[in-house]
Amino acid sequence: MKKQIALLPGDGIGQEVMQSATEVLNAIAVEFDHEFEFDTYDIGGAAIETQETPLPDKTIEGCKRSDAILLGAVGGPKWENLPSHLRPEKGLLGIRKALGLFANLRPVKGFSQLLHASPLKEEVINGSDLLIVRELTGGLYFGEPSEIREDGQSVVDTLAYKREEIERIVDQAFQSARLRRKHLTSIDKANVLASSKLWREVVEEKRREYPDVAVEHLLVDAAAMKLITNPGQFDVMVTENMFGDILSDEASVLTGSLGMLPSASLRADGMGLYEPVHGSAPDIAGKGVANPLAMILSTALMLRHSFQLEEEANAVEEAVQELLRSGYHTADLNVKEGEQVGTNVMTRLVVEGISSRSASE
Ligand code: NAD
Ligand code: IPM
Ligand code: MN
Repeated sequence: MKKQIALLPGDGIGQEVMQSATEVLNAIAVEFDHEFEFDTYDIGGAAIETQETPLPDKTIEGCKRSDAILLGAVGGPKWENLPSHLRPEKGLLGIRKALGLFANLRPVKGFSQLLHASPLKEEVINGSDLLIVRELTGGLYFGEPSEIREDGQSVVDTLAYKREEIERIVDQAFQSARLRRKHLTSIDKANVLASSKLWREVVEEKRREYPDVAVEHLLVDAAAMKLITNPGQFDVMVTENMFGDILSDEASVLTGSLGMLPSASLRADGMGLYEPVHGSAPDIAGKGVANPLAMILSTALMLRHSFQLEEEANAVEEAVQELLRSGYHTADLNVKEGEQVGTNVMTRLVVEGISSRSASE
């Protein structure tokens, strides 16, 4: 299979983990006889530096021409004081919007080898396996107006959703639930927000089309609590953009580190951008210690969702399982035993795991 992949490394550790992604994909290409062609484009702070905009047209065009997109991370202290429309983060929001990537799937599955790496009790997190389906192109992130008013004494952000935007993400969540344990938790703030009232109404309407899926509604504050006290109660969680952003970082605690969580940002036709949940981690950027597994596991999601390469996706995930089983871990994981390694060695271990498949056949 021949595929064109757009790479958007971005800033900070985004650059480092993208290198890991391409090494892993090259190993998959050799092992399974595929051809992956990479084209790299600027986004975020890296694009501001060279082209004075966080999202150059060339980047959007390159992404549109590609079969799938990988994104590292954007942002950093250097660009923090720029006006909000010029910040690196606007590049990421812009590419999601430009490509219509409304469905962000964030699977959270603890590796049994890392149960003790979480600050939560093993018996609480053992067996947790959930999927956060986050709406990605609406809500507070995109509502207008969003501005500081002229006198500097008041501000406004707007939480807006059209019914059809809610319907399509809720449909996506029901479909995901059907492929899993058939349990959907819809998360909102329907005791306060008008947008949440419509959200709940849509979920109630849609559930009639999916009678095989059990539905529960939770308010977001209680959901945040239950996510870390009883994560095993969740299968698929569907929620609006901002709630999904916050809950997914919280959910990463179940896995031991934010550096473990991959994600897929999808359009209905399967076009996808694959990105770790974490950011550019300025505190560790350039030190060679970033955990590349969230990015590497995102490439597995790409192989599975955009290219239907299930066996190849499994090969990546199994290589990760195997090295964790052997005790290898990066510094972000609170693991006492085994061997602590940096980004490059971790990546090499995944590559070796993939390559050793044919050697052991
Ligand atoms: P962050 O996710 O970058 O980092 C939070 C903490 O987690 C830091 O201590 C960091 O060192 C650690 N961490 C994150 N990923 C890691 C990894 N792979 N390996 C080891 N440790 C890891 O969040 P932040 O510090 O709040 O934000 C930093 C910048 O990143 C900001 O500019 C923010 O806007 C941006 N950001 C970008 C994305 C994205 O591009 N998708 C996501 C979140 C934040
Ligand atoms: C994420 C990030 C982004 C978001 C930021 C950087 C715009 O936090 O992908 O989770 O909030 O969507
Ligand atoms: Mn986030």
